[in-house]
Amino acid sequence: MRMAVLTSGGDAPGMNAAIRTIAVAGINRGHTIFGIRRGYQGLLEGDVTELRLADIEGITHVGGTILGSSRSAEFPTPEGQARAKARLRDLDVQALLVIGGNGSLAGAHLLGEDRSIQVIGLPASIDNDIGHSGLSIGVDTACNTIVEACDRISDTARAHRRAFVVEVMGRRCGFLAMRAGLAAEADAILYGESGLDEDALVAQLREVLRRAFAPGSHKRRVLIVKSEGVTVPAARLVKRLSEHLVTDAPGVDVRETVLGHVVRGGNPSALDRVIGQRLAYASVIAAEAGAHDIMLGWEVQGGFGAETADPSVRVIPLAEVLAETERQLDGTSPIVKKRMELLRQVEHLLAL
Ligand code: F6P
Repeated sequence: MRMAVLTSGGDAPGMNAAIRTIAVAGINRGHTIFGIRRGYQGLLEGDVTELRLADIEGITHVGGTILGSSRSAEFPTPEGQARAKARLRDLDVQALLVIGGNGSLAGAHLLGEDRSIQVIGLPASIDNDIGHSGLSIGVDTACNTIVEACDRISDTARAHRRAFVVEVMGRRCGFLAMRAGLAAEADAILYGESGLDEDALVAQLREVLRRAFAPGSHKRRVLIVKSEGVTVPAARLVKRLSEHLVTDAPGVDVRETVLGHVVRGGNPSALDRVIGQRLAYASVIAAEAGAHDIMLGWEVQGGFGAETADPSVRVIPLAEVLAETERQLDGTSPIVKKRMELLRQVEHLLAL
């Protein structure tokens, strides 16, 4: 077969492990594998190269994506779709493997739903906001990066008996903040799915500060991990908290740190490499089997989708992936409800 692979949207650590496995497995199984540079924009512009084993040697441990990425505004338009299909016809590829987040998978579904080309998605986004994948490529590394940053901030915070609001990426999904916040021993975790408004958040945090820095308290620092899905800026929360410090926590300072793109870079963890490799291998096998308009999910809850030879990988129609992604983002998915319920059960223990 002739197959092409691209990475699209926000890069995620582990994308290179997936690219390499697609190329190594594909070439060794007798296929020709093309790499499309700069995501869908590169596809529109015909920026394509045949991947050879020498090109992908030693890339598994490297962050980012060797193919480059983009967020193409033109690709989803009718003209963009027609041009993309024409490019793929010219290349004579039967299968396109798309490694990316929810926007990229929506683009993959647009391209693949008429079945003129086999489109197979691999979930990759640090946000972990893709339906029917327990984890996406990149999430584990991003969590580890956040935890390491919070540990460092905690060292200096304890030295000065300070409170810090640390903002982490995740777009509209609070998963990264929740998971990393627990691992970093946060005193409070703020996530957009809670729906709390600014005054409610300030009231919650004032209570955390009052308890943590009450006379006789053993606490030497307060760590508040805030997801970027909480739209109140970290600096604004700090300003509002600071207005009450004289009474809430005399002598204590509150500072903010926005981790931003630091969270997205860096060498992938072993787990992200393995997820990338196993989803990638399964994608080549799925392409050979003629799969259309699907995504491969990692450790899919509820056993959704069709089984593969890999017990952790399942095949899910892209349309269902996108529907579940929407449910997760609007909070109606049982998975998100369960996630919030579990966090609420331990929330009062965080600041102890
Ligand atoms: O989707 C991944 C992500 O890193 C989000 O967490 C963040 O909101 C967004 O991408 C940032 O996008 P950009 O790199 O285009 O600014």
